[in-house]
Amino acid sequence: MPDGKLRNEIRIFCGNAHPKQAEQVCAYLDVPLGAAEVGRFPDGEIKIRILEDIRGRDVFILQPTSPPVNDHLMELLAIIDACKRASAQRITAVIPYYGYARQDRKHEGRVPITAKLVANLIATAGADRVLCMDLHATQIQGFFDIPLDHLYAWPVLLQHVHDMKMDNLTILSPDPGRMKLANRFAQKLNGELAVIDKRRKGDSDVEKGHVVGDIKGRTVVIVDDMISTAGSITQAVHTALEFGAREIITMCTHPVFCGRAFERLNGLPVKELAVCDTIPLKKRPENINLVVLSVSEVLAEAIRRTHLNESISKLFD
Ligand code: R5P
Repeated sequence: MPDGKLRNEIRIFCGNAHPKQAEQVCAYLDVPLGAAEVGRFPDGEIKIRILEDIRGRDVFILQPTSPPVNDHLMELLAIIDACKRASAQRITAVIPYYGYARQDRKHEGRVPITAKLVANLIATAGADRVLCMDLHATQIQGFFDIPLDHLYAWPVLLQHVHDMKMDNLTILSPDPGRMKLANRFAQKLNGELAVIDKRRKGDSDVEKGHVVGDIKGRTVVIVDDMISTAGSITQAVHTALEFGAREIITMCTHPVFCGRAFERLNGLPVKELAVCDTIPLKKRPENINLVVLSVSEVLAEAIRRTHLNESISKLFD
């Protein structure tokens, strides 16, 4: 499709969560970022105004629901509503990081399932489709009653490890839930696979675990979906060192970095901490080699394919 046609047919908007990524996506697609006012009324309520005609357009709204999660979520919902009422032909919520995902089941009595609640809110606001990246649990896709395409950051992370040209590799899953991802890395990088039997002590603390698999004297790559309070990743690093890892690379898709994260990550004895830019970093941990990898191109390509009704799964073949 000639660029002019794409420019005419799609509109990309963003809230305040990650305007830089929205600009990168627009640059990749060679379309201008949609003009919108995303501000606040004096009482703090969210004020939205779409500043251009979007009648009949294929609209994409890029907004990770990262901290402050309630503000960013509400902005997303209000922008969707504004676009719906402005007669957009179709609205796709592009959510590189889907917050509230960790409450995805009733693990004890009298608690909500917020991952489902937020899915309902997004659909009710008027989204027709959703693009998400590395959901905390893949079954969250089923919480949406509208089509959702699940994107992955692993090609970006994998390429990065590949470019480091290391051998004697073991991919260490920090908990059994990430085994599938770690196994994919191990296969593609010709490495060994290991796992930690992680046990949580609370919302931000993790007990010291055991390693199942061979990591002694090896270069260990620990890959997780997110670093939130950094309890999991730091405990995994200390466990790996205790079990004889020679050097450690840590990686994740979503750098949520909240609570005690900075205190824990500062000076963590790893060769590198690589994170994706699904969430912008307002602050960086110190005394650690932090590398930020961009997923903007993956998001842009997924937007292009969504508009043209081309396969998205082929992106990850
Ligand atoms: C757990 O299932 C996830 O994959 C992450 O390991 C976890 O959510 C990270 O949280 P935190 O950094 O607070 O330990």
